[in-house]
Amino acid sequence: GTPLRDLAAARGKVIGTAVTGSRLTGAYADIAGGQFGSLTPGNAMKWGSVEPSRGTYDWAEADQIVAFAQAHDQQVRGHTLVWHSQNPTWLTNGNWTPAQLSGLLQDHITTEVTRYKGRLAAWDVVNEPFNEDGTYRSTIWYDNLGPDYIAQALTWAHAADPSARLYINDYNVEGVNAKSTALYNLVKSLKDRGVPIDGVGLQAHLILGQVPSTLQQNIQRFADLGVDVAVTELDIRMQLPATDAKLAQQRADYRSVVSACAAVTRCAGVTVWGFTDSDSWIPDVFDGYGAATPYDENYAPKPAYDGIAEALGAS
Ligand code: G3I
Repeated sequence: GTPLRDLAAARGKVIGTAVTGSRLTGAYADIAGGQFGSLTPGNAMKWGSVEPSRGTYDWAEADQIVAFAQAHDQQVRGHTLVWHSQNPTWLTNGNWTPAQLSGLLQDHITTEVTRYKGRLAAWDVVNEPFNEDGTYRSTIWYDNLGPDYIAQALTWAHAADPSARLYINDYNVEGVNAKSTALYNLVKSLKDRGVPIDGVGLQAHLILGQVPSTLQQNIQRFADLGVDVAVTELDIRMQLPATDAKLAQQRADYRSVVSACAAVTRCAGVTVWGFTDSDSWIPDVFDGYGAATPYDENYAPKPAYDGIAEALGAS
């Protein structure tokens, strides 16, 4: 059949996948390069990956993924500059003043964004800033710098690469709820203040049969604020073992997520968080769950693959 990336392009959308650099060979590389129009490094661009000791950088995996994407005419989504997790221990164990932390964050953002200037379509600048009730998450950034760390991070990223689309990314913000409404209010206020915010990322780590009914409405309300929306980390986990009935439900769920994006002009596209069940974080974190991606562990497309293709107009 027609590759997903071509189906998506014909509708003005981009279909992407998270990837692991060390696996980009053989069948994994063929699928990543052939089926997807965008790559997101699953871990390679996180602060703990790129600066394991202070002032000592390791860009190998991130560079590898960007080069692979360029060779395959793909976009790259940078992920992620400011997060509470996967930071280097030298940073999290340090005894910093707020002014020092602000300086370290500015240096980090400027260094990393400058390295890939002009080559990334988008950056997840700030990742997971909210609690479920819509209050700000207590993090090294919020606790020391206050809520304005978000505006500052966006401003520093924009200065380093004015052409990258700058996103705030979070989970459990796919439907209309307290958390997504807090994100909505933040984006609205950033836009009102003239802070460079271009998009909202809905991670979409979903559970089988539980695609929020308000997904499309929620995408539309962000679009109406004048920002792009992307589904950035889609996976749909099920309790193992997978059965035909569960895989059929998963096909319907993938189709409804991709259809919701396809229906909204400002939805840029959908990225799956790993395209194969052998490269998924789910079994490591959710005991007894798995089979969350569109390809099985042997790289055979699952019914979910057909659900994505259908939503992108495959006949
Ligand atoms: O690299 C080490 C390896 O040397 C070691 O042998 C191995 C043993 O456990 O661990 C490896 O590191 C793991 C890393 O993934 C690379 O595989 C970490 O333990 C593991 O915690 C890490 O998990 C990543 C997770 O973020 C961390 O929070 C997942 O791969 C990654 O898919 C996941 O992605 C996040 C997004 O960034 C943000 N949204 C949620 C999403 C899922 O948690």
